[in-house]
Amino acid sequence: MKKLIFVVTLLLAAGAQAQTIQGNAAAGQHDVFMCEGCHNSTGYRTAFPEVYEVPMLNGQNAGYIEQALKDYRSGARRNQTMRAIASSLTDQEIADIAAYYSQPKAK
Ligand code: HEC
Repeated sequence: MKKLIFVVTLLLAAGAQAQTIQGNAAAGQHDVFMCEGCHNSTGYRTAFPEVYEVPMLNGQNAGYIEQALKDYRSGARRNQTMRAIASSLTDQEIADIAAYYSQPKAK
């Protein structure tokens, strides 16, 4: 019986943990105003300061987006622009943004 209670407690703790980092797509929608200029530009290119290609985020896997942003933030993945942007994001905002972009979108 003791063992069962222990297992249940563990599961509850795991559930609570997952809850704290759960992404909220609706909240993410408010955070992406600063991403859309680049990641939603026509043809996925920017024109300033020079023309370069920008990866498409819509429909991307949430775990991938989350990892990419954390890697930019930590410097594990190097890109000056994205590092500056990712540095301003909290873990919650990253989860929200990932949830938002991974949603299937109506075309
Ligand atoms: C000034 C333009 C610009 C803005 C603004 C911008 N990004 Fe980026 N982003 C880029 C570029 C360029 C890359 C490709 C960098 C590289 O090669 O690693 C990139 C890469 C990424 C990647 C990795 C994609 C992949 O396929 O590996 C993610 C995720 C990402 N950005 C998310 C965001 C989010 C979320 C925001 C807003 C909070 C944002 N970006 C704002 C230009 C931008």
